[in-house]
Amino acid sequence: MTTATENEQRVWTRKDLIGLEDLSRDELEMILDTAPQFLAVSQRESGIKKVPVLQGRLVVNWFYEPSTRTRTSFELAAKRLSADTLTMNADVSSSKKGETLHDTLYNIEAMHTDIVVIRHSAAGAPRILAERHSSHIINAGDGAHEHPTQGLLDAFTIRQHVRRTRDDPQAGLDGLRVAIIGDIAHSRVARSNVWGLTKLGASVVLCGPRTLLPGAFSKLGADVTSDLREAIEGADVIYLLRIQLERQGKCLFPSIREYIRLFRIDNESLKAAKKDVLIMHPGPINRDVELSTEVADGPRNVILEQVTNGVAVRMAVMHLLVNKPRVAV
Ligand code: CP
Repeated sequence: MTTATENEQRVWTRKDLIGLEDLSRDELEMILDTAPQFLAVSQRESGIKKVPVLQGRLVVNWFYEPSTRTRTSFELAAKRLSADTLTMNADVSSSKKGETLHDTLYNIEAMHTDIVVIRHSAAGAPRILAERHSSHIINAGDGAHEHPTQGLLDAFTIRQHVRRTRDDPQAGLDGLRVAIIGDIAHSRVARSNVWGLTKLGASVVLCGPRTLLPGAFSKLGADVTSDLREAIEGADVIYLLRIQLERQGKCLFPSIREYIRLFRIDNESLKAAKKDVLIMHPGPINRDVELSTEVADGPRNVILEQVTNGVAVRMAVMHLLVNKPRVAV
């Protein structure tokens, strides 16, 4: 016999995924709860690693900035959902000839697209497109604003780890402490993670050189410190970020050597952390700058697990946006 709770269902309503700032805890959990079925598809040892969830649909990957993980992950996610995929590189598209983003997308939509995944250097570009166009728009990173699927795959990876280590299939992120260390000022990943993790019940501490650590982040509900030891003591997760020299007009700290001395995570600095702390990084990593090679390849890191989970989480997002299924509580 099923109870009322077992029959309870949530309904996905959004057309687009622009940022985790927009989503409620319930919506975040719907995505995280939808991902495991797609992780199982990717992990099939025999049989086809595909489901017909987006069969006959067209997913366009439109990238104005370099990407390894996000672009391949979205493409693979779409293929595993049986969608047709199209990749548009800004370098060789007609935007180089002065066409506006809207006009380019109107032309692409004339070929009947369903989902457009866009990465752009301008914060806000995905939202502007979502407001005017009928395609489902997914933000794959816009300037220093948000990278919502990265935040989702990070939350999913932490939740999977907690569920495994506690042997509790219902465990969530409540009460966990996540230290995010590095170039906070230029990081869309930090913003999405602050929104996502705090809504899911974790606390976040942001740490880096003062010039890369805007006080405004404390208004988002995160603690802010430039003391690495203070940040990592008691943290359940240490999440490292790359120094984004390409987004800095000038170098905002004295030298890389100084940065390494004060902020690098290595076996020495890790002595201040919990023995079982999880090491995460969105990639690309700069070995021996924000983390030492021994930590990057060490037993506490789940960096490649994040990449694996990214495909499942992106499959879940595309399924929810297009099919708007009911998700059991
Ligand atoms: N994490 C991430 O966004 O990596 P890419 O820039 O390679 O997509």
